[in-house]
Amino acid sequence: MSKQQATQKTIFITGSSTGLGRATVRLFSSKGWKVIATMRDPQKEAELGSLPGVTLLPLDVTNPEQIRTAVDQALAMGGVDVVFNNAGYGLAGPLEGLSDKQMLRMVDTNLLGAIRTTQAFAPHFRHKRAGLFINTTSIGGLVAVPFNSIYHATKWALEGWSESMAFELKRFGIGMKTVSPGGMKTDFFTRSFDTGKHEAYDALVDKVMSVITDPERAASYSTPEQIAEIVYEAATDGKEQLRYVAGADAKATYALRLELGAEDFWKAMDQQFFGPSPQGQQLPEAVSRYLSAVNSANPQELSASFAPDALVRDVQREIQGLEAIKQWAERDIFGVHAHFDVTRVAESGGCTVVTIKIDGTFDRTGLPNPLLMDHAFKVEQGKIRELIVTIAA
Ligand SMILES: NC(=O)c1ccc[n+]([C@@H]2O[C@H](COP(=O)([O-])OP(=O)(O)OC[C@H]3O[C@@H](n4cnc5c(N)ncnc54)[C@H](OP(=O)(O)O)[C@@H]3O)[C@@H](O)[C@H]2O)c1
Repeated sequence: MSKQQATQKTIFITGSSTGLGRATVRLFSSKGWKVIATMRDPQKEAELGSLPGVTLLPLDVTNPEQIRTAVDQALAMGGVDVVFNNAGYGLAGPLEGLSDKQMLRMVDTNLLGAIRTTQAFAPHFRHKRAGLFINTTSIGGLVAVPFNSIYHATKWALEGWSESMAFELKRFGIGMKTVSPGGMKTDFFTRSFDTGKHEAYDALVDKVMSVITDPERAASYSTPEQIAEIVYEAATDGKEQLRYVAGADAKATYALRLELGAEDFWKAMDQQFFGPSPQGQQLPEAVSRYLSAVNSANPQELSASFAPDALVRDVQREIQGLEAIKQWAERDIFGVHAHFDVTRVAESGGCTVVTIKIDGTFDRTGLPNPLLMDHAFKVEQGKIRELIVTIAA
């Protein structure tokens, strides 16, 4: 065995077919490492197998048996120094629009995939009292955006799991680190992305997606090659450092969270995605429900926001009781195509007064368009007891 072979280190990588996994295979190979590049379908791989030191192995991280086989094969090739748990993908959409199958697949891949692979390698590292696990989490494991709840659940779980594991492994000379990238220009948002949909949330999701897909935001994303450099740094710097927040966007976001504190950061994110809440006021839940029911044309949600004997004074008319309110809503709200935008919120006489800009098709009513109306809500026990609608001054 040559001196170079004796000191040559080996990295085992999951999810190597594209994106960050692939860039990491290339980088470590170019640095003289042996690389065990695992992927679901190595048959399709035309390039990586011919790079110096690279061996391809099949591995779907949701298949525990295949994990054991791949780990045994890797160990039979002469041992492993670094395991890079990288396989993962994105899932977006409101919780109500996701199936059990979608949620299970996400947890199985992003979280249990890394946990099972680690468990399979742990005895090997423990016996040699050396070794390092690096887990790809995400800036989405340290902060959250709307409508990515299950993805965040897996990435926050990975961060917490890694932090705990790092204590446990350190006792045996083994390290665990996380690399938390911001946006990366990979297949993540296209081929690999899964989504769910629910009509009640469509308008809100559109609002969030217009922020997330803003070209200016996407321009700040890193290349997978840039993030692979951070993985290399984590693998070789010999530091006892737990987290590597990777990419300029992720670093800026995480620095802001630390600076503002978790609560104020959360409020700032809410404003970024849904606009400022007028005068910084939170709307009562029943009022938010009413507004979101109108904007998603959902009569069931609208009646659920009212108390059974609620009273509505709509300009000159008085409407009492749920049945009458339902008919009023069907005719006067859902009968025209209208969108409600809150422009002002104030408190007056025990009521929350919300000024709403209504953009709609009012031709048959003769009302101006857009129209400014004041809605004074009296909320009791989580339901609207009284609503007085007037044309705003
Ligand atoms: N791109 C971003 O903006 C971003 C940001 C933060 C964190 N991340 C994280 O970075 C990691 C890599 O993603 P990427 O951006 O490089 O996206 P990508 O190009 O879509 O790569 C994802 C990789 O994971 C593999 N994979 C998915 N399910 C698998 C399974 N069950 N078993 C084995 N491999 C599986 C895919 O393999 P196939 O080719 O077989 O589908 C692919 O190789 C993920 O953990 C992701 O959550 C990405």
